[in-house]
Amino acid sequence: MEGCFRVLYCVFTLLAISTFTECLENNDEHQDVEEKITYNGDQVLRVETVNSKQRKKIKELENQGLIEKWFTNSTSVDIMVKKVNSETVKNTLNNGSLSFNIFIDDIQRAINNENPPINEDELELSGRQGHNLTFERYHKVDDIYKYIDHLSQEYPDIVEVETIGKSHENVPLRVIRIKLDRNSTDTKAIWIDGGIHAREWIAVSSVLYLINELVYNRDSLESHMNNIEFHIIPILNPDGYKHSHEKERLWRKNRNKPSANSCVGADLNRNWDYHWGETGASKYSCAEIYRGVKASSERETQAVVKYIMKNPNKFKGFLTFHSYGQYILYPWGYAKRVPSDHTEVHRVGQVMATAIKKATSNEYTVGNSATLLYPAAGASDDWAKGVAKIKYSYTVELKDTGKYGFILPPTEILSTGKEAYAAVSALANEISSEK
Ligand code: ARG
Ligand code: ZN
Repeated sequence: MEGCFRVLYCVFTLLAISTFTECLENNDEHQDVEEKITYNGDQVLRVETVNSKQRKKIKELENQGLIEKWFTNSTSVDIMVKKVNSETVKNTLNNGSLSFNIFIDDIQRAINNENPPINEDELELSGRQGHNLTFERYHKVDDIYKYIDHLSQEYPDIVEVETIGKSHENVPLRVIRIKLDRNSTDTKAIWIDGGIHAREWIAVSSVLYLINELVYNRDSLESHMNNIEFHIIPILNPDGYKHSHEKERLWRKNRNKPSANSCVGADLNRNWDYHWGETGASKYSCAEIYRGVKASSERETQAVVKYIMKNPNKFKGFLTFHSYGQYILYPWGYAKRVPSDHTEVHRVGQVMATAIKKATSNEYTVGNSATLLYPAAGASDDWAKGVAKIKYSYTVELKDTGKYGFILPPTEILSTGKEAYAAVSALANEISSEK
């Protein structure tokens, strides 16, 4: 309700309601998203930004609230443009001689085609019991948690589940530990997470695919997969993920609201305590890249930090799955600098990319994140390397290269899962052969 109408409304209803100020305050509640947000006629444009003048223009459009960035690298940017702003934005681009292509013509149409409803009959026919997880569609939090429960009950010899904390909406954050060869004395571990960003559904499904391979295909995996202890969290941001399913498909952050007059959500990948807030992060709570009130302010961040720091030395690898762009990125992200062991880190990144290429023939680009994409401080890969001292720390940006962006069709779930598996297996191989 508009402000002045609200005042009138409150005056007229004063008799029925306890106090005038209370009535005015109630206005806040109406700001919550109650209905599902739709994106009819909204578009994604890829704009060429090869020089700083072009990048400045994009920044201006962003500051005016006319666009939202989906993806940036050193030569282009994908921007989401609402239908109402479409003309203004396109005119500005044309006048500034910024060339662009329409990548997604109607975001809502893409969303409508994205996730077909579940067919319970088919699940029954396939003889699946105890859970309904498939790799044919994107699943909600409940389905995923039931699947995890199922695995821990059915395969207690190889699967261990530990609750390491709770999200802001009190959803348990659960790490799945899998070690195939219980008798191996090897103590090397790899950390794997997905879904730190809510809308990147393919990251969640791909990490689930990896878990599924480890459990159901354990007898035919490469032998180096047996000795590594995998510590896996498929949805690091369950509140945001749920919100992106139920209310706002393109939600990125978590769902914390630190104070009454702040916006909802911190960008969990700007919240980690290593060069926190220095670059590419915002101090404004309404921003998509809001860093949080302080370093490690968010429960989701805290839970992982506490868990890894109990025994940081055993972690030899750290992989955080995101989308999109098809990149394997390594530190530092806070500045265009590389760590002293970057030659090794780059080489192993390349080994992962080669394994992916062998699996699906898709190309992934390997390199330093600040150089290939943009400097951004407070991301988990930097923390893993800088604080937990995990040598092989990477952010993997999964499919695609922009055709569908975050709205990747479910027919891509299986093959992207195979890419994630290939990357993990390649890393595990390198780590297990290193002294
Ligand atoms: N797309 C990721 C993000 O913006 C990339 C993070 C890369 N790592 C980094 N330290 N900046 O969160
Ligand atoms: Zn992300």
